[in-house]
Amino acid sequence: MKFFVDTADTQAISDLNDLGMVDGVTTNPSLILKSGRDILEVTKEICGIVSGPVSAEVVALEAEAMIAEGRKLAEIAPNITVKLPLTWDGLKACKVLSGEGKMVNVTLCFSANQALLAAKAGASFISPFIGRLDDIHIDGMDLIQDIRTIYDNFGFETEILAASIRSVNHVQDSALIGADVITAPPEVIKKLAAHPLTDKGLEQFMADWAKTGQKIL
Ligand code: E4P
Repeated sequence: MKFFVDTADTQAISDLNDLGMVDGVTTNPSLILKSGRDILEVTKEICGIVSGPVSAEVVALEAEAMIAEGRKLAEIAPNITVKLPLTWDGLKACKVLSGEGKMVNVTLCFSANQALLAAKAGASFISPFIGRLDDIHIDGMDLIQDIRTIYDNFGFETEILAASIRSVNHVQDSALIGADVITAPPEVIKKLAAHPLTDKGLEQFMADWAKTGQKIL
């Protein structure tokens, strides 16, 4: 399973990338706002850190303008993935941009039918938003499962990019169901290593080791 980091914080991306944990990055207008930086400048910097796909989102709402913005974003670096919303205009833009050989991530997906349309429009990635479904008491994992089944039924190559990941359980469940990629905030990725029994076990080992009076180095 691939790990994308859902942030425009270049320091956080760099730290995780040094550990070999970053297969790609996703950004959105809210994350660009949070970074306080210019979209073109910060996206270029991210593409210099990470060699995998870096999603940069268009902000136009009509297909022609989305295509123009997508082409401009794609000029930043060869690993740019143009992120488009799941609307009819977004799907039209997806068809054109993917036809030009550009990677496209169709975002804001909340139903299996939407995911089916994105695959037919040639999307490289579909982003179902797990956490936002959970927020309205709908199990986001059911959506991942449905999309997995539909894509496997028909051999679609669009990768399922589980997004709006809020917890370590979301990561584990997405992996079990067979999502191709998760995108999560850096804090969630770091928490994957944590377990209270690991902490407790280490504490015991350290206490016993101190009693031996030995040294390895
Ligand atoms: C994904 O591409 C989105 O940027 C992101 O996962 C949205 O997450 P949120 O619902 O926590 O804002």
